[in-house]
Amino acid sequence: MLLVVGGAGYIGSHVVKELVEDNREVVVLDNLSTGHRWAVDERAIFIEGDMADSKLLQKVFEIYNIEAVLHFAASSLVGESVINPIKYYENNVSSTLTLLKVMKENKIDKFIFSSSAAVYGIPSVDIIDENTLTNPINPYGKSKLMVEQIVEDFHYSYGLKYVTLRYFNAAGAYKTGEIGEYHNPETHLIPLVLEHLLGKKSSISIYGNDYNTKDGTCIRDYIHVTDLARAHVLALNAVLNEEVTNAIFNLGNGNGYSVKEIIDTCEIITGIKPIVKLDKRRIGDPDVLVANSKKILKELGWKATIDIEDIIKSAWNWHKSILVKRK
Ligand code: UFG
Repeated sequence: MLLVVGGAGYIGSHVVKELVEDNREVVVLDNLSTGHRWAVDERAIFIEGDMADSKLLQKVFEIYNIEAVLHFAASSLVGESVINPIKYYENNVSSTLTLLKVMKENKIDKFIFSSSAAVYGIPSVDIIDENTLTNPINPYGKSKLMVEQIVEDFHYSYGLKYVTLRYFNAAGAYKTGEIGEYHNPETHLIPLVLEHLLGKKSSISIYGNDYNTKDGTCIRDYIHVTDLARAHVLALNAVLNEEVTNAIFNLGNGNGYSVKEIIDTCEIITGIKPIVKLDKRRIGDPDVLVANSKKILKELGWKATIDIEDIIKSAWNWHKSILVKRK
């Protein structure tokens, strides 16, 4: 049995799908602060609750025979983290420490952790590998790096076996269209462009066109959420088999697309012309963030398979379908 903490969120719910498809037994623990009950596959057992609640965790570990924990529960808005760092250190760092402590008390020693490209801050190189210096520039990125370090200490001091996965820009939706990205508020580029094209927003803003890139807009590495989810299954299997005991992997496509290119691709795929406005830079946006994911290819045989067109197509199908469901 596996415990997926934060399994009702965008990435967690896609990983739960992959796990149950892989015939794994899954328990999801989620406080539904940003996740959705409908996003959790019905083959998984669902418990509404908070990982900061050590008594609840203890009960879960007593009832279910948990082999490994996959941890997705976190606050993840960079801007909010600057305004309210306490929330980020409580939800992301302190709660994870509770989770790891109760795991240790129950002799559960296998862990998959969701980290972020935000740990790199503003990197000095355009293509980032796992040895690139980590230097987060906001409390969100710092909270992710702190947990990475706690996890590493648990490995060396208590024998925790783990894989930490640093995501670049997750996007897209599940192939059947049952689940997809549904944040409130939405801050990510692709869903915002598509929501605009569906008439839910009057325009799309480009946050700055004076970056040091070919067209002046920021370049990011977009990765399909199912590609991300597959990487978790591989990482989990490697940890369960003890082929890997402590590793950090980047997860990206290795291709960078500018904000303008994303908006243009959305226009081509949907056939709808967007109204584009130029806005000022958003604080803390690096010019370019592109992953070198060769380490996970070499060690676990994973690579991204879904290109930017198919990422946007799947997101478009999802966004159209939620509009219909709401009508
Ligand atoms: N952008 C716009 N207009 C918008 C929204 C976004 O121009 O309306 C731009 C942003 O400024 C950025 C790019 O589009 O240049 C991508 O922005 P997203 O908000 O979609 O994604 P980020 O790259 O900011 O964030 C992602 C993850 C974060 C993580 C961060 C690491 O979502 O969790 O990468 O830098 F912290």
